Amino acid sequence: MKRGSTIKILIENNYEEMCTKTASLIAEEIIKNPKIVLSLPTGSTPVECYDRLVQFHKEQGLDFSEVCCFGMDEYISLAQDNPQSYYYFLNRHLYRHVNIDKRNTFSPNVLAGNRQQACDEYTDMIKERGGIDLILLGIGRDGHIAFNMPSDEIQAYTHVELLSEETISDNARFFEKLEDVPTQAMTLGINNIISSKKVILIASGQEKAEVIGEF
Ligand code: PGA
Repeated sequence: MKRGSTIKILIENNYEEMCTKTASLIAEEIIKNPKIVLSLPTGSTPVECYDRLVQFHKEQGLDFSEVCCFGMDEYISLAQDNPQSYYYFLNRHLYRHVNIDKRNTFSPNVLAGNRQQACDEYTDMIKERGGIDLILLGIGRDGHIAFNMPSDEIQAYTHVELLSEETISDNARFFEKLEDVPTQAMTLGINNIISSKKVILIASGQEKAEVIGEF
């Protein structure tokens, strides 16, 4: 986002309409720029947006063949083929249903021995592709964006975060038990996010009202 960028707040009637609107905005950007660099989130909020994008691909031929996508975060030590990993989630909900080239789908290397180097490489990979054109964000109840936890210290670029207890307990619903939830993740930093040319943040439901009210 450039300094002075326009911020629009769109309020839709319900979750389904929010997802349809969001998917339509993303589809418009893909049509305008077939080589778009996206960064996409996981979580329950974007699921129907991905369903709509898949529908646009299947019914209207929305073309992902040159689209590039960077996952915005990933649990430490979960490989891409681990069903709890965020790469697996994006593959399950989006990638495998559209004609995206898997070689253009990326996630932070959370298996690397040298995590700082892996973080720096991820930031460099994004830069090499000209930066992110469009990032879709969810938001946690505690205000976290990607896995940037609320803190007095802002981390600019890809880094490792310790997850808050609230986030761990919120995410436990995706795991068999609380102890299975990873406690650390690699995430894009705030500069990676706000230097995206377009940013869409979506939130739905009573439990997000308080954090959205703070904007
Ligand atoms: P949610 O997660 O979409 O499952 O509420 C949002 C987030 O943690 O960013």
